[in-house]
Amino acid sequence: MDREPAEVATRAGAGLQHDSAAKHVSGAAVYIDDMPELPGLLHMALGLSAHAHAKIVSLDLKKVHAAPGVVAVFTARDIPGRNDVGPVIHDDPIFADGLVQYAGQSLFAVAAQTVELARAAARLAVIVYEDLPAALTIEQARALGLELEKPQRMSRGDSAAALKSAKHRLHGRLEIGGQDHFYLEGQVAMALPQEDRDVQIFSSTQHPSELQHLVADMLGVPSNAVTVEVRRMGGAFGGKETQAALPATVTALAASKLRRPVKFCMDRDDDMLLTGKRHDFVIDYDCGFDDDGRIEGVEFVLASRCGYSTDLSLAINDRAMFHSDNCYFLPHVSIVSHRYRTNTQSNTAFRGFGGPQGMMGVERVIDAIALKLGKDALAVRKVNLYGPAPRNITPYHQAVEDNIAPDIIAALEAKADYAGRRAAIAAFNAANAVLKRGLALTPVKFGISFTTTHLNQAGALVHVYADGSVHLNHGGTEMGQGLFTKVAQMVAEEFQIEMAAVKITATTTAKVPNTSATAASAGSDLNGMAALAAARTIKERLIALAAKRFSCTPENIVFRDGRVHGGTASLSFGELARAAHLARISLSSTGFYKTPKIHYSRAEHRGRPFYYYAYGAAVSEVAIDTLTGENRVLRVDLIHDVGRSINPALDLGQIEGGFVQGMGWLTSEELWFDASGKLRTHAPSTYKIPAASDRPPVFNMELWKGENREETVHRSKAVGEPPLMLAISVFSALTDAVASVADHKIMPHLDAPATPERILLAVEKLRPVL
Ligand code: MTE
Ligand code: MOS
Repeated sequence: MDREPAEVATRAGAGLQHDSAAKHVSGAAVYIDDMPELPGLLHMALGLSAHAHAKIVSLDLKKVHAAPGVVAVFTARDIPGRNDVGPVIHDDPIFADGLVQYAGQSLFAVAAQTVELARAAARLAVIVYEDLPAALTIEQARALGLELEKPQRMSRGDSAAALKSAKHRLHGRLEIGGQDHFYLEGQVAMALPQEDRDVQIFSSTQHPSELQHLVADMLGVPSNAVTVEVRRMGGAFGGKETQAALPATVTALAASKLRRPVKFCMDRDDDMLLTGKRHDFVIDYDCGFDDDGRIEGVEFVLASRCGYSTDLSLAINDRAMFHSDNCYFLPHVSIVSHRYRTNTQSNTAFRGFGGPQGMMGVERVIDAIALKLGKDALAVRKVNLYGPAPRNITPYHQAVEDNIAPDIIAALEAKADYAGRRAAIAAFNAANAVLKRGLALTPVKFGISFTTTHLNQAGALVHVYADGSVHLNHGGTEMGQGLFTKVAQMVAEEFQIEMAAVKITATTTAKVPNTSATAASAGSDLNGMAALAAARTIKERLIALAAKRFSCTPENIVFRDGRVHGGTASLSFGELARAAHLARISLSSTGFYKTPKIHYSRAEHRGRPFYYYAYGAAVSEVAIDTLTGENRVLRVDLIHDVGRSINPALDLGQIEGGFVQGMGWLTSEELWFDASGKLRTHAPSTYKIPAASDRPPVFNMELWKGENREETVHRSKAVGEPPLMLAISVFSALTDAVASVADHKIMPHLDAPATPERILLAVEKLRPVL
């Protein structure tokens, strides 16, 4: 009698385009700098420190004040409340006060009639510095013992004994460079003064609630006096999790003091000089293994450059430790992590949040074992994978219960013809003296949840209007990843209405309070569930009403394709909404979600920090020119696990973008500081991000078919960060290509990023004396 529930092509599980796709490409999507400017709006610029570590003997701003168009100049002394934007530890001044701690640090702000006048004026300060010794690099900070906190140690078993008794042993060091976020939309905020000295801030931030709290503390007002709103970001990648705070606080300060609207849109060079980046790491390893390459014991010492303040460095370095195993069972393991304080930008969240750096260590170990034993690296990877108990316990004592890495690897190996191409590449390399090819398959296992347990919560607010149209709001932010589309799909699915009936709205602290950053890839897991909870509350009320109307039991009410059925009767969703309104039933609800099952003791580095893991694997084939170091990624095949996809089109977009961003990190993106600590690569002219033409010419992506065994939204898995780490296959393949120069007998000395220069140097070191 009833039709089978139609497969709804427009809701959960459908490959819908991003809700703003057309607006993104046509330019109609409104970013903060596109918003209409109110009369009297002022523009800001910052004065930056020219020295890495120095006392400010004098800061003479007379010429800045006198410059054309300047309305006001602000320094630390003008801040009524707290001069700080530190997210966890309060060691991050908005304006340096007497002491500068990195070249590029903000000293003062100018508010002027135009952007150009503000920027010109900011350069006119006369500053006298008295230099202090600066620690710029990890090694300099190590020598001075400058650590943000005591070294952290995670361990299981007896690694020292295992190293001693192992048949084979090797040790080495890998250096891994940092990465600038290079979001297309730079850091930006606009602040509007409101009644009662309240402030409204539009910010390009992943974390509106944190900005609300920081601005309130800076102004010395309660949180309810500050509202932060963000409709979308033009990319963030972790760079706007904490570091959107500088433009937000300085514009709020100026707006509050001057009672005028104020906008601050960072110049790209200033943005790169001011803001923190991905942490660079030095990883030392010592590993014992058997004839098959099976790891018996391993010790990692991780060292990272955190910059001058704490920011999120503690959690980021923790995540590096959590991912030092990647997909491999390490029977006896010790991971020690040093978080070095340096006189450089305060390094921050960046897609993967330390995980990529941690994984690089163990993947390097596997490559080194393979070369030492004369084995194919994939064979060594396979014997080390997590397996059934007892080979399923991580270094932090969480059991890996959902391990699908072996299955993904097997499927990919066959699909990408790993063995056949390995043989073809060997033949190519034997026949070619100058060009050499390399191949590598590397897997990914990425832990999903914030490792700070309390952050794993989210809220949403859903209204159904009396015409049946829906207003959707939640604490997550949209940075291009498609979160808003996915959450709207879940709500449309729950109500069984068209996507077009669900209005996606800007994130604001006024609608959903006390939110976590949209980060850790957990946006859809958390906000999707919170929005569903809100929708379900409303739906329950509608079901009760419909059951009464249709004289049937609530169990017999079915929402399907825009209608609500009960027995033979039905109403459209809109008709039922109107009936609910007339019956004085609330059509609005909040929703809340917290991730179950997780717990963690940071003191012991033990527990279940992750609800589940997301997996994937990639095979990359590369070519290098041994005379120039020039290199290309020729082909990539990958399979990635997103559980049961809410939106395969968006998921593939995340996978492709993440992979290419990871590739940039490991190949062409190089941050270069001069001896005085000034970052010299602060624009695209000197800092090379991948271009569209760098996309591998053959790029085969596939979603793994399977659902999350945990009860996540739609049984999906987080996708934002994990695919970035699939690009480690590119670095391994480049290592393989370099190693071919010495017949795969010696481990090349290749650090990341594998720029042409580094590849050439590594080749030169290996070349047999001709
Ligand atoms: N995708 C786009 N297009 N732009 C971004 O800024 N940020 C990444 C990832 N994908 C980012 C992105 C990072 S660092 C994270 S943590 C996640 O998206 C955050 O969003 P999610 O939790 O909704 O996946
Ligand atoms: Mo993503 S680095 O967690 O913002």
